[in-house]
Amino acid sequence: MRIDILTLFPESFAPFKESIISRAQKAGTIEINLINIRDFSCDKHKRCDDTPFGGGAGMLMSVQPVFDALKSVLTKNSKVIFPSPAGKVYNHQIAHQLAQNEHLIFVCGHYEGIDQRLIEIFDMEEISIGDYVLTGGEIPAMVIIDSLLRFVPGVLKEGSLTEESFSNGLLEYPQYTRPQSFEGLDVPAVLVSGNHAEIAKWRKQESIKKTKKNRPDLLEGGKSEN
Ligand code: ADE
Repeated sequence: MRIDILTLFPESFAPFKESIISRAQKAGTIEINLINIRDFSCDKHKRCDDTPFGGGAGMLMSVQPVFDALKSVLTKNSKVIFPSPAGKVYNHQIAHQLAQNEHLIFVCGHYEGIDQRLIEIFDMEEISIGDYVLTGGEIPAMVIIDSLLRFVPGVLKEGSLTEESFSNGLLEYPQYTRPQSFEGLDVPAVLVSGNHAEIAKWRKQESIKKTKKNRPDLLEGGKSEN
């Protein structure tokens, strides 16, 4: 999969130089390119903001540099994502769907956003990472990219996705590692019993318990197999 990220702040994406995402790039499983929108500005001062028609507080990103930056990477197989608090709310299923694309382009908005015609011309999918407003699209783009890349074959170890939160409509069960006794608290006995059927049963029960406590909406949605 190839991902092009259009941004005014390419250095914000330093986290992609670490850990799993960095390894997947080095292995050639994924390709991530950072494109500085400012490099495309025809303004003599390289300005990339402009005033909104109709007035109001704040500025929009200028149309010309965003349009030209997009044109420079667009192919017939590209899907363009615009992270925005006005988008549809992101979740596990959307991450999985996005991971099926061979080329994604993210347009990171700044200031008050972008001209609506850019959204229409490039058929952008507007995605929100939650009901709050961030100062720009870089962090949301990182959240979306990090989570969808986990579904790209070869990025994670095989089997890592099968038992995690949301994979079966429930939150993941509690996990324990050594030492078996810590600060007066013991690992649940079933986990050291060696009885795999009982362990699976316990994990399912604990998943349901945790989901009821932290995300009862998931159970009401009827997505769990229970
Ligand atoms: N840009 C600013 N806030 C955002 C949000 N909640 N989701 C996606 N993009 C954003």
